[in-house]
Order: sequence, then C-alpha cells, then structure tokens
Amino acid sequence: MRELLEREMEALRIEILRCTLCGLHKHRKNPVVGEGSLHPKIFFIGEAPGRSEDAAGKPFVGSAGRIFDKMLESIGVKREEVYITNVVKCRPPGNRTPTNEEINACSKYLERQISLIKPRVVATLGSVALRWAGERFGIRQKGVSHLHGKIIHLDADYGRVFLVPLYHPAVALYNPGMINVLLKDIRKILEV
Ligand code: URA
Repeated sequence: MRELLEREMEALRIEILRCTLCGLHKHRKNPVVGEGSLHPKIFFIGEAPGRSEDAAGKPFVGSAGRIFDKMLESIGVKREEVYITNVVKCRPPGNRTPTNEEINACSKYLERQISLIKPRVVATLGSVALRWAGERFGIRQKGVSHLHGKIIHLDADYGRVFLVPLYHPAVALYNPGMINVLLKDIRKILEV
C-alpha cells in the first residue's frame, strides 16, 4: 500500500514538473509540487509559491516560510511530520494573487494530493486556500477573518476531516502584531 502511494505521488510530481496547463509555466523557474510526510499530522495548503520557493522548488522557504516555521515550532511539530503544498504550483509574476483560471487549471493537482494522502487535519493558510478547501469539502463560504482559529468538523468522501483555517503567515511580515494571532490560532490544532 505504502509503495503504491509513493509511486502515485511520484507520478503526480513528474506530471506537475511538466505542466503547461496555464500561462504561469512560462515564467516559472521551478514548479513547487509540495513536500513532507505522506502520512502527515497536518496537511497545510498555502496560496502559491513566491520568489524563494520558485527558485528552490520547495514550499515556504522564504520570509513567509520563516514565520511558518515559528508556527510549527510553537506546537512542537517538525516539517517532516506535515505535508505542505499550495493551491497553485507555479509562481504568479510579482507574487500577484492567482487568477480563477490559474486556480481552476491547477486544482486537479491539489485534488489528487488530497485524495491520495487523505489527510485528517487540513490547515489552510490564507483566503485563497480557504476558498479552495471550502469548495472541495463543500462548506459554506465565509472569509478567513471569520473562520481563523476555528476547527470545522467535516465528513469528507474519505472520512472525518478537521479543517483549520489560518491566516497566511505573510500577514505577520506587514503587520508584526499578527504573529500572536497566528500562534494562538495554530495552537487550536492541538485539540484535534
Ligand atoms: N506563500 C505561499 O502561499 N506559499 C509558499 O509556498 C510560499 C509563500
């Protein structure tokens, strides 16, 4: 079973590396597929790679990544114990928000990551990821400012899921006081 999952994830990785489904492939250095445990304690969904992620081909390795690492550290969880990916796998130029067309084109990859990994705890980082998860898991759409730090119990097609909407870690780059909100919200995960 484990081997099959690893093989399917590897096939998906290769497909994403070759993807030309939307215009973002023209500007990218590297697609950022995602990384981490295939049996994760938490499955994190971000928005899209930034400059550092595009250069490294890895999620959350730039300045938002340093805040993300603090969040993980504060709950005693290591990167190897979680899975981290984004709604959109290639960097939008100038770090703009991905368009609906780009999100729709890329959605099938995140969908496959979720249906293969079947995560029990899904934490969204920011409004784009929350909107995507709301559609995927069929919950009423409310913004991250309403839902951050709450635990939403869901019956997904593969079983029970706890959805934990969080603000995007980059908010603390522009508003340093937000680090306290991020740290308080992520502690909620310890309840599940
Ligand atoms: N912001 C994101 O949403 N994802 C990353 O991987 C990096 C920054």
